[in-house]
Amino acid sequence: MECDVKLTKLAKCAGCGAKVGAGTLAKLLGDMKVLQDPNLIVGYDKSDDASVYKLTDDIALVQTVDFFPPICDDPFTFGQIAATNALSDVYAMGGEPKLALNIMAVPNDMPSETVHEILRGGYDKAFEAGTIITGGHSIFDDEPKYGLAVTGFVHPDKVLTNSGARPGDVLFLTKPIGIGILTTAAKVGMVSKESMDLALKLMTTLNKSARDAMVRYRVHACTDVTGFSLLGHGLEMAQGSDVEIHLDVSNIDLISESLELAKLGILPEGMYRNRAFAEDQVDAGDLETAKQDMLYDPQTAGGLLMAVDPADADALYADLKGVVPSAQRIGVAKEYRGGKRIFLSE
Ligand code: CO
Ligand code: CO
Ligand code: CO
Repeated sequence: MECDVKLTKLAKCAGCGAKVGAGTLAKLLGDMKVLQDPNLIVGYDKSDDASVYKLTDDIALVQTVDFFPPICDDPFTFGQIAATNALSDVYAMGGEPKLALNIMAVPNDMPSETVHEILRGGYDKAFEAGTIITGGHSIFDDEPKYGLAVTGFVHPDKVLTNSGARPGDVLFLTKPIGIGILTTAAKVGMVSKESMDLALKLMTTLNKSARDAMVRYRVHACTDVTGFSLLGHGLEMAQGSDVEIHLDVSNIDLISESLELAKLGILPEGMYRNRAFAEDQVDAGDLETAKQDMLYDPQTAGGLLMAVDPADADALYADLKGVVPSAQRIGVAKEYRGGKRIFLSE
């Protein structure tokens, strides 16, 4: 539908680019007093995507919340993207999302049809995910925002965190990289329709198929690649798992127009934050700067990064190939030798 409101003009920063940096968050949460509970399998101290609480020997609860300002002008698509992104954190833990609540902020002069379209986008993706939106909460705010608080379930023994990668594991990624650069350039009209359509398609593709394939194999660690970028989330995995990660950048699907834009210096602010956070742990070899910048590009509703047992790598790759936007075998985890955590080569 046509809409006179330019949604992205109301947003100060785009999508997951609006995320507070990982370093800042760790500092803010450092001294909080929290109850100790053995049933809390995954809590916020591990910098994981969602928290997991064991209810019985067979069922654990997965909880997560994500919301952000508009990343595109079409309200329905924005709702779809925000929901895809929020649901993703449950998939990244190996879980199945079941219930969700809307979280919404709207300017009080926003037309009700626009608000309705944003919500319709959210309901559309929740429906596709088999998740029921049961309510929510909205407030007035000059900058619109939308997202979901999602509850899912997972078997307590099958929880996937970002800290389980083992030396020898093969690393897979399921969506191309460069979404943040495209959405940033789109704000100043510098993106072709083809590339913007690709970005929108990627951001509205659920990580459900990736999750459904992954849980059939010995995947040891998983995270979704969002605001902290491939290298930011990769670093969290490397540190959390106490391994080092070696990436073959020639196997990473870098969106070609994003790379062109990166070469021109058209980069989101979040790229610089991500670089500042992770850079001293990354040995970039002689990889060109624009390609490095792509790997620090904040993704919105990005793909899953998985570490799988080498014996299952070929089978998982074959399964992923038909069902995810871009199945990429991007590297390996190795035993940590001290020093840097991530090594890039081409
Ligand atoms: Co996540
Ligand atoms: Co998240
Ligand atoms: Co309320």
